[in-house]
Amino acid sequence: MPENWTSSRPGGHVDLHLDLGAEGGRRSRLEAALREAIRSGRLSTGTPLPSTRGLARELGLSRGTVSAAYDQLAEQGYVTTRPGAATRVADVQSHLPPYTPPAATGTPSPAHDLRPGRPDLGAFPTRVWLAATRRVLDRARPEAFGAGDPQGRIELRTALADYLGRTRGVLTTPDRIVITSGYYQAVRLLCRVLSAQGRAVAAVEDPGHNFYRETVRRSGLTTYPLPVDAHGADVTALDAPTHTVFLTPSHHYPTGVPLHPSRRQAVSAWARATGGLMVEDDYDGEFRYDRHPVSALQSLAPDHVVYCGTTSKTLGPALRLAWSVLPSDLVAPFVRAKEEADQYSETLGQLVLADVIATHAYDRHIRAARLRYRRRRELLIDRVSAFPGLTAHGVPAGLHTLVTLPPDGPTETALLTTCATRGLALRGLTELHHTPTADRPGGLLIGFAAPPERGYPAALDALCGVLAEFFADPGAPDRRVPRP
Ligand SMILES: Cc1ncc(COP(=O)(O)O)c(C=O)c1O
Repeated sequence: MPENWTSSRPGGHVDLHLDLGAEGGRRSRLEAALREAIRSGRLSTGTPLPSTRGLARELGLSRGTVSAAYDQLAEQGYVTTRPGAATRVADVQSHLPPYTPPAATGTPSPAHDLRPGRPDLGAFPTRVWLAATRRVLDRARPEAFGAGDPQGRIELRTALADYLGRTRGVLTTPDRIVITSGYYQAVRLLCRVLSAQGRAVAAVEDPGHNFYRETVRRSGLTTYPLPVDAHGADVTALDAPTHTVFLTPSHHYPTGVPLHPSRRQAVSAWARATGGLMVEDDYDGEFRYDRHPVSALQSLAPDHVVYCGTTSKTLGPALRLAWSVLPSDLVAPFVRAKEEADQYSETLGQLVLADVIATHAYDRHIRAARLRYRRRRELLIDRVSAFPGLTAHGVPAGLHTLVTLPPDGPTETALLTTCATRGLALRGLTELHHTPTADRPGGLLIGFAAPPERGYPAALDALCGVLAEFFADPGAPDRRVPRP
């Protein structure tokens, strides 16, 4: 046993690292090491110290030396002793100056969270997840706790191949699926592979998600904008040197329109003719409220589409579990990039998700969420479209709605600033433009999924309260139908 490592026993059972240092006598070195451990909080109040006999044996000191160190610490108030009982760490932390954490980097939680793309985290299926975790751990063989597969657990890939075929029309086998830490990582890995292949020009939707656009750019690719209209991204504007086009075909982010069937055909034909690649970000494809969702674009050209899905909207972003379904020639380089990035994704969560999907609890959870989100969206559209001048866009789907502002009305900035002062968080459209210019209409991206179920009416009231300050209030007395 080295001189600086010991364990408290019997009764205490804490392992304790002590840096005895080189300066001074043995008692004072031990005393200083214990004092440092207590003051820094590494040994918390009430922790039993090892017996003098045990510590002396483990550190190769005499028992008298240890006793003397304990006595000194007791006198200084660092430990408490009682005859016949273990020496314990005293409450010194409360006498220390309070710890000041570094300035927080996150924004404080808003009173009403209407940010787009966020699911209702209070509806996370905790019991389902717990039951699946129990089953997984009960059945796990030792290898489940060992190193993982860079491609992802086969159990999850198998469950996903079945689920994605059944619900999204994706044509795949488990060996073409790779598990990543979110869609974000899939974009990073893919860009790395594309750069290495010299395919460094990508088209992105305009407007589109600024975070992923920046991710593509930061990964070394050049992006150029594809305009978006009522039929989705205008894929006829794809330029010659383009190899890759990033799309949200089921529900364009942020306008909410699906890619028109003629454009789906056109972009698939472009890919086949040029060897091009489509990246299909199916971020909220599970949430269509008026009909069965349109199948994934991937089903039209499986060898030219990287189809990406995620649990971030269905369960919660904390899981960091997403999947990419790849053309066969991209599987090996993508898996290599994943291995280079972080070896493999955490595996026990993958086994739990595989169980949740295979037992169809995932389907049930999504069905229940769909009902709630559908109702919430209807309420939002009803209330917002009653304000003259405001236009809600998109099909009934997803977790957000884009509302554009009239050109002669208040600015997006003015609305967002007032919302913020009322504790309302939502996003503006302007930052999603590839190249923001003054002549593009402003808009609000309003998420309807994030607030807890009981908090949603209050969030809507708060939003409409702000809108009423800027637009003619549809609920104001002078606009109400007079009583007969
Ligand atoms: C457009 C879009 N795509 C994909 C994602 C999912 O990202 P991730 O899986 O990295 O959480 C999001 C989540 O915010 C999104 O808004």
